Amino acid sequence: MLVTFGSSGEVLARSVASILGLTLLTPERRSFPDGEQYVRIDGDIRGKDVAVFQTLALRPEQLLFEYSLLVDALKEGGARTVVGVIPYLAYARQDRVFRPNEPLSARLVPRLIEAAGTDRVVTVDMHLHRFREAREVFSIPAQNLTAMPLLASYYREHHGSSGITVVGPDSESEQWASLVATELGAPSIILEKERVGDREVKVSGDLSLRGRDALVVDDMVSTGGTMIEVIGRLRREGVRRVDALVSHALLVGDAAGGMKKAGLGELIATDTVPGSASRVSVAPLLAAALRKGLSH
Ligand code: R5P
Repeated sequence: MLVTFGSSGEVLARSVASILGLTLLTPERRSFPDGEQYVRIDGDIRGKDVAVFQTLALRPEQLLFEYSLLVDALKEGGARTVVGVIPYLAYARQDRVFRPNEPLSARLVPRLIEAAGTDRVVTVDMHLHRFREAREVFSIPAQNLTAMPLLASYYREHHGSSGITVVGPDSESEQWASLVATELGAPSIILEKERVGDREVKVSGDLSLRGRDALVVDDMVSTGGTMIEVIGRLRREGVRRVDALVSHALLVGDAAGGMKKAGLGELIATDTVPGSASRVSVAPLLAAALRKGLSH
């Protein structure tokens, strides 16, 4: 197997290639004056299996199209199979037609990934809510890995786990909160969330955790609106320390500053979206999944 990457996938591609001892192909990439993108992969790809790394955060359309060009270039060049390693899969939250005549983006994006020529997909903590399994939106083999046990181990190592209550901001987060709670041997509570705008939410539920510490767990933080509301409520209820743990820290605008202001201790995230909160690498997780695929 060979490894290549788009402009958002280089760090993880390099780590995984080094863990597995695979050859890394650095693609040529540029934009034409009119904004169209160009890619070319230099190397002997005929008959090879190639893993393409690209995470789809923050400028998802551009990155998805660049990914598609890479996959097409590989297939045109004779690659046998292409594995899309997409640590953060964008658009998964639009998993229902909420109002008439909306797109079902959570299914469209997988279709576009498939249409490009992808044979298999590996992703991490995909936002699965109304769709329960990755295979409900992909018709190619799709593996959804979870980084929650790795994140929980990091938390225990650096902060311990006694006196902690794990808090999930909404029913969707229950799947991730319960994994972390089990790993830490901690109790958990799941709140209810109502979204009132792109950046604002209201949460309700029993927040009486006075004198305890809380760890808020979610799949992602985007604008920070959810975290800011939950952290603020917990601190006002007399919770001593509030940390947050997510797989994907998109941290749009001043999300990090807003969470600090609300009383956050530490934000712990993975490198599916590399940034200031990336404390835990998903490279070993991705390497293990690719290694398994190789032996099949
Ligand atoms: C939605 O249900 C997700 O699990 C997150 O809670 C949400 O996307 C976070 O977005 P924001 O940081 O903008 O509140």
